[in-house]
Amino acid sequence: MPAIVLVGAQWGDEGKGKATDLMGSSVDYVVKFNGGNNAGHTVVIDGEKYALHLLPSGILTPTCTPVIGNGVVIDLEVLFREIDGLEERGIDTSRLLVSANAHVITLYNRVLDKVTERFLGSRKIGTTGRGIGPTYADKMNRTGIRVQDLFDEHILLQKVEAALAFKNQVLTKIYNRRAITVDEVMAELLQYADRLRPLVSSTSEVLEAALDAGSNVLLEAGQATLLDVDHGTYPYVTSSSATAGGACTGSGIPPTRVTRVIAILKAYTTRVGEGPFPTELFDDHGEFLRKTGAEYGTTTGRPRRCGWMDTVIGRYATRINGVTDFVITKLDVLTGLETVPICVAYDVDGVRHDEMPVNQSEFHHATPIYEELDGWWEDITGCRSFDELPANAQAYVLRVEELIGARVSAIGVGPARTEIIERFPLLD
Ligand code: GDP
Ligand code: IMO
Ligand code: MG
Repeated sequence: MPAIVLVGAQWGDEGKGKATDLMGSSVDYVVKFNGGNNAGHTVVIDGEKYALHLLPSGILTPTCTPVIGNGVVIDLEVLFREIDGLEERGIDTSRLLVSANAHVITLYNRVLDKVTERFLGSRKIGTTGRGIGPTYADKMNRTGIRVQDLFDEHILLQKVEAALAFKNQVLTKIYNRRAITVDEVMAELLQYADRLRPLVSSTSEVLEAALDAGSNVLLEAGQATLLDVDHGTYPYVTSSSATAGGACTGSGIPPTRVTRVIAILKAYTTRVGEGPFPTELFDDHGEFLRKTGAEYGTTTGRPRRCGWMDTVIGRYATRINGVTDFVITKLDVLTGLETVPICVAYDVDGVRHDEMPVNQSEFHHATPIYEELDGWWEDITGCRSFDELPANAQAYVLRVEELIGARVSAIGVGPARTEIIERFPLLD
């Protein structure tokens, strides 16, 4: 039975949380396969707002089992704070499963993330400061701490000692910071061991059995295509695989099981942190999108950089992820504009590029070539079918669909769970 992948098409914050939540009742398992608490998903149910960072959005659906896959990096304090916060609001979190192979974010990873950014100065990435990059670096360097290490104090001690022997040299000699003691790291990690133990399992085995039994499994990405460490705007990316390929390595589900890839595409573009952004707006239109779309980070509260829809990026997302279906979100935010520009290609030093330039300097120099479509003024938040949308809004969606090369199966017209137009079923 099917495993379905859900990814972000742009630089994150496309509304993945809402889309996952929407499918929640038809899905048996929702697996977070990459990233950590750098993600921020806002889901609105019956007027109640839930901000999730580490827990898969499926946690809000009682019939769905949320899974934190092996590809995720976990800040245990954040995990349990988030669990406690939901429990206090009456959400049952007891179904949560956590992979024994997921890596754990330690105190020294958080400290190193922050001091490295400060050290980089104007060359900083603008990370969320949550220790994400250093934790993935340790994983690749084979010096990381995994969830299962917490249940063997002897092994944990060896690993923490080995890590700190090196990290403290860096902290004290390069960054002029105080050394971190083995005891404080051990205490930080071990305090959660007893609470964590019952959640831990061989999640890839659980998921294989679920697929064999005919269950629907949704693999939910944090971040997005252009933040992917391989396929994004490197080095202005996160440190994990946020594209469809990462769904398999980050969950242990083989590629042959995946039957569908759904990409979430905001009706305009936003970005948090540093890095190139061809359609970025610095004028009143940018401010309009930020205000109307409430574009302030769920995780750090930073104002998001805003710009028009970029279908070069959309086409790239289709290719890299093998997108079968798009969900366009926040179409309602574009209501009230005289014209709605769509970037269809780039001009790079006088040369037209219809596809993402291979070379990073070309992307940095790209200026958008726009097609201007007529806007619409009618309130669309009450529309529940494509035909109910004003003709100009329909034309916008159809033109974007044509340019990105995969069908638009759903359209978001407001933040609430119900504010969506379903054109084609997202699950067969
Ligand atoms: P994610 O990180 O991809 O899950 O997205 P975020 O939650 O960070 O940002 C998306 C924001 O847009 C959230 O505040 C959602 O409540 C909101 N949202 C999602 N879909 C729509 C939509 O169709 N219209 C409007 N106005 N807001 C939406
Ligand atoms: P969701 O899942 C938007 C950005 C950061 C920074 C870069 C690296 O909500 O879409 P990191 O802390 O990951 O090392 O930061 O990536 N970033 C995000 N931007 N949405 C996110 O997640 C992001 N997660 C990381 O702003 O530019
Ligand atoms: Mg977000």
